[in-house]
Order: sequence, then C-alpha cells, then structure tokens
Amino acid sequence: MPITINNPLDMHLHLRDADMLKTVAPLSSESFSGAIIMPNLVPPVSTKEDVIAYKKRILNASEHPNFTPYMTLFFKPTYSKEFLESVKDEVTAIKLYPAGITTNSEGGVSGFDVEELRPTLEAMSELNIPLCIHGETNGFVMDREAEFVSIYEMLATNFPNLKIIMEHITTKASVEALDRFKNLYATITLHHLMITLDDVAGGMLQPHLFCKPIAKRPEDREALRKVALKAHPKVMFGSDSAPHPQHAKESCGCAAGVFTAPIALQVLTELFMEHSNIENLQAFVSENAKRIYTNIEVPNKTITLEKKPFTVPNSYGEVVPMYAGETLNYTITAIQ
Ligand code: NCD
Ligand code: ZN
Repeated sequence: MPITINNPLDMHLHLRDADMLKTVAPLSSESFSGAIIMPNLVPPVSTKEDVIAYKKRILNASEHPNFTPYMTLFFKPTYSKEFLESVKDEVTAIKLYPAGITTNSEGGVSGFDVEELRPTLEAMSELNIPLCIHGETNGFVMDREAEFVSIYEMLATNFPNLKIIMEHITTKASVEALDRFKNLYATITLHHLMITLDDVAGGMLQPHLFCKPIAKRPEDREALRKVALKAHPKVMFGSDSAPHPQHAKESCGCAAGVFTAPIALQVLTELFMEHSNIENLQAFVSENAKRIYTNIEVPNKTITLEKKPFTVPNSYGEVVPMYAGETLNYTITAIQ
C-alpha cells in the first residue's frame, strides 16, 4: 500500500554554497516543502544582506518548485534589538554555535555568560525569533551533549518566552530535558535514529557516519526512537544533512557531517513502518514543526512512497550519502 507524506519539512539542513549548493539543493527541494538552512558558511551568514543573497542563491540552485528555504543567522551576542527588528522578516531563526565545536563554528559563543547574552536573547524573545542551539560543551566527546543540558536549563529558565530548539539531540539526557521546560524543543536526525557509536567506530572506521554530535549508546538511540516514533509534540525531524566532498571525509582528519537528504524520507518510512508507527510519521516530519515554528509558511507537496527496492547511489556529485550502494526497502514513486 502506498504511503503519502504531505509537506515534509527538514528543520536542520546544510546546503553550503557554490558548486556544492548546486549539487545538494535540487535533492532537498525535490522531496521537501521547506527546510531550516544552517548559516555556517565561511564566513557565516550574519547580516541582512548575507541572508537575502544566500536565500536567492538557494532558490536559484533549487530546480524544484514549492520549496522554501527558512533562513537563519549565525548567532552573535552583539546583535542589537534594532538589528534584529530590521532582519526579522528575513529570518526564521538564529543558530547559536559554541565556538569551535563543529564545522565552521569558530565565531561562535564561548563561556555562556548569561548577562553577556541577555540583551540579544531578550530581544529575540520579544520579537518571537526562535533560538536554535548546537548543544555541546568542549568536554569529553561522549559527554558533551549531556554536559550541555545544564546550559539549556539556564537559558530556558532565564528566557522563559524564548523558543529554544535543542538541535540534533543524541542522548537520553536531552530527551528527558524536553519535558522539564515548556520552552525547550528538539530536532532529531535520521542518522541518530539509525546508528550508534558502534556503527561509526566499532569495526573499521566509517568516515561517512562521523558527525557532531557523535552517535552515542544504544540506550540513547532508544530514547530518541521512543519520542520520534510517537511524534512527541516537541520533537521535529531535522536531518542535519551535512555534505562534505568525498576527499574531505576519506582523509586523514575526517570532516564531521553525514549526508542524508536524498534518502531521509525512504529510511524514515521504513523505520516507522517496522515499528508500526507509520501514522505518526506525518507529525514527525511536518505537523510538529508547523506548530513549533509559528512563523513559517509551508508550500504544498505530496510525496508517495512504496515498498520497492531503491539502491542508494554511490555518490551525488562528489558527496557520498549514508547507505551508499545499499538497497533500501522504500522508494519515492511520486511527488506532486
Ligand atoms: C555540520 C556541518 O558539517 O556543517 N556537521 C555535523 O557533523 N553535523 C555542522 C553541525 O551541525 O554540527
Ligand atoms: Zn548541523
């Protein structure tokens, strides 16, 4: 029986720029209605002009109709209320990176001094601009996200009207934090629903599964699956699809990021079917995001999937996707 998904949304996506943008934008714009676009270009997207120009480049590269890039700015504690007011209509959210924690995040925040952050975060809260956070400390790699939970709590308490999205959560600790604060929400990736650290480093090292935050323990994946499969109202799908050229992944010093955009809906469908939760997929990939991000308009797109084998290409341009060369059980058979 065919499965349909209406208006799928990817609430955390890296599209990059230039040739890479031309390779990946058509893939997301084909099967998604919209996506939150990460600002970690070099240099990062941090002015109104940057946002407008980048959005135009994305739309030019997209090739498919009915796809809206929801733009973000790279958080800086120096953003004034006047600046935020002037840029508000162009951005859907602002993305905060701890300095140096992941790809192209060098200009991010260090120290998390609440008084230093207060003017910008209060202005965002008044203007209703959600704050997306890459929640990792610079502690031991497996503990970074759990250690960051106290910072999420500090921010959620100090700015109770600010919508805070815990991006790409990977731990039971983050899942548990969701229900403790009314203003905390989360995105969950495909790869963190599918793999654990064992898949990355338990046998021969798998560079195409290496990402930040690193995949964690089976019990963490279980906690993520539990909330995703029941489409907990505070979680949304955000692929964190993060393309890097093959030579940057298969190298001494592997770049962090898993490329999943072209396989995400197929794999999610299989996961939700396997667990007899297919009725919740629509909420996980669309309805929850529309409710959480009250500032987005979503173009119409209907994706039909059927249980037919789909062999994942070995590469898209110079990017190797997750499950390259493997055969998935669901195929997209129509897009309207
Ligand atoms: C992302 C990238 O490559 O831009 N990498 C990743 O491992 N997820 C950045 C990020 O979201 O951390
Ligand atoms: Zn990301």
